[in-house]
Amino acid sequence: MGLTSAPKWLPPWLFYDAAGSRLFEAITELPEYYLTRTERSILAAHAPEMIAPAPAHTANHLKLRITELGAGSADKTRLLLRAAVERQGTVRYEPLDVSASALRAARERIEREFPAVSVAPQVVDYTRGNGSGLGLEPVESGERRLVLYIGSSIGNFEHEDAMRLLRRVREALRPGDGLLLGVDLVKEEHTLLAAYNDAAGVTAAFNRNMLERLNHELGANFDVDNFAHRAVWNRGASRIEMHLESRYAQRVRLASLDLDVRFAQGETIHTENSYKYAPGQAEAMLVQAGFKAEQCWMDERGWFAVCLGEVA
Ligand code: AVJ
Repeated sequence: MGLTSAPKWLPPWLFYDAAGSRLFEAITELPEYYLTRTERSILAAHAPEMIAPAPAHTANHLKLRITELGAGSADKTRLLLRAAVERQGTVRYEPLDVSASALRAARERIEREFPAVSVAPQVVDYTRGNGSGLGLEPVESGERRLVLYIGSSIGNFEHEDAMRLLRRVREALRPGDGLLLGVDLVKEEHTLLAAYNDAAGVTAAFNRNMLERLNHELGANFDVDNFAHRAVWNRGASRIEMHLESRYAQRVRLASLDLDVRFAQGETIHTENSYKYAPGQAEAMLVQAGFKAEQCWMDERGWFAVCLGEVA
């Protein structure tokens, strides 16, 4: 339990209850939050290349099945689904997420917009596997699978955990399959900081929502206004860190756990790391996980990269 550790921490998957998922959607539309908009522009420019089988492969006759890790609202995914429908008529789409509410909304929207896409959502926490595979249904003969792991979701993981996850994906795949990985890149500090300290305070609400969730789900009595949102750039570790800083010395009770937690004034709960990658790093990670790095696409400012790894 991270609240009894020193320093205190909580895991980022806790952000995404129904309210948190809505707040995250609002974040993606903020002027400061360049990530979503930038990745969307990359997908919009290159979707047909991204879904085509690698030229070296004799997989041209195979039907693409798209499996997405941490699908959320699947908004950007629509660009890839559209390209796949154009290429092959019908598409099977399997979004995986921890948020049932986000998956429901994604399914409704996609089925409405693309009658040719059959959506098979799965509520799972793909981050909590222990080497046991992803629990993916095997594809049928005549199909190949493209796993999407976009949105820089991988940035929440320490390097070793990120590599473990990529290897698990690799092990779930077969020759001709692929992984499309989206990563946020290192850039000027003020740009990074603004994205996690938006003027409208949506990111602050998203961060504090984690405490609201503990209030609802663990009978905790956090006064969320007693915690300040902090986002800092840790240059040495190449990550944005989000914290909740206790404004006062205070004590909080978590009734369901029969636990009292003391906070010193200024003490923080570390709620998230968001790693930012160097050029070439995503390719290197794909290769290290056993993929052939096919290609990376970037925006013209070099802020975000989407890389395709292929199972040779
Ligand atoms: C969904 C993990 C990519 O790190 O930018 C947004 C989550 N946190 N604002 C990110 C987030 C604060 C987001 N990821």
